[in-house]
Amino acid sequence: MIRFAPLAPLFGIETQDVDLSAPLSDTAWAELERAFYAHQVLAVRGQDLTAQQFLAFARRFGPPQPHVIDQFHHPADPNILILSNVKAADGRPTGLQDAGSYFHTDYSYLAVPARATTLYSRVVPKVGGDTLFANQLAAWDDLPEAMKRRVEPLVAIHHYGNRNDVDEASRTAASVLNVEQKAKMPVITHRIARRHPVTGRIALYAVSGSSFGIVGMPDDEARDLLDELAAFATQPKYQLRFRYGVGDVVVWDNAALLHSATLIDPADARTLWRVTVLEEARDAAAPAVLAASYASPAAH
Ligand SMILES: [Fe+2]
Repeated sequence: MIRFAPLAPLFGIETQDVDLSAPLSDTAWAELERAFYAHQVLAVRGQDLTAQQFLAFARRFGPPQPHVIDQFHHPADPNILILSNVKAADGRPTGLQDAGSYFHTDYSYLAVPARATTLYSRVVPKVGGDTLFANQLAAWDDLPEAMKRRVEPLVAIHHYGNRNDVDEASRTAASVLNVEQKAKMPVITHRIARRHPVTGRIALYAVSGSSFGIVGMPDDEARDLLDELAAFATQPKYQLRFRYGVGDVVVWDNAALLHSATLIDPADARTLWRVTVLEEARDAAAPAVLAASYASPAAH
């Protein structure tokens, strides 16, 4: 039995009991997977992993999808994105800096979005660098009934970017793409009240970040509604602040959460490796027993 401890009262769980450098037994994986879907953020503390060992763990959650920003792919494997503010001896950046410093959902700008994002903390800054999470299952549950009825049929229009900061020089804009990368980015849609592909629970989905409009609604009205939902869904009572130690692996459920990086002093070294894995068609056929076990807030 793996021992877990809560990260916060509402959601998030951590363990010190697992060594991800060795292959996981089926039993251990089943416990970790259940903890992940029940608590939305799973932290496995104090790891010492190679790129391949980290990637092997991430693959347990789904198929990895390399990030569109390919200049910071890990040299050992393009499925790993390097997040870092460290400069090489020649002054060039070694990783993507200030990524995602606003509430968003990873890959919500793709038709098949991210199931999970896995970060492996390599270098921890002296001050800050936490990740904020906001629980969108709880936010949906708490929405007034009239708002639920209004939102339930709505479909949001997404593309790469941060709706609230499109200034490419800003540290809280989406990471800047080059011309070729921008050309790869589609405009797609997702329901705002989105059913979780594994647990079946409804969550507010990506109401901050890549959502720029709503199908069939004037732009100003859609923006006002998305902003109202985002303000509601990121209230402090729905948030968890995760603090990294060296070697921590954290994985989070993008279908259930918003998250935001926090800005740090650019001179305070920080490096993480990231693997993001996609949802899969087989999610629609998730075993009924698994979905049922997460069907109500009581499952927490
Ligand atoms: Fe992110």
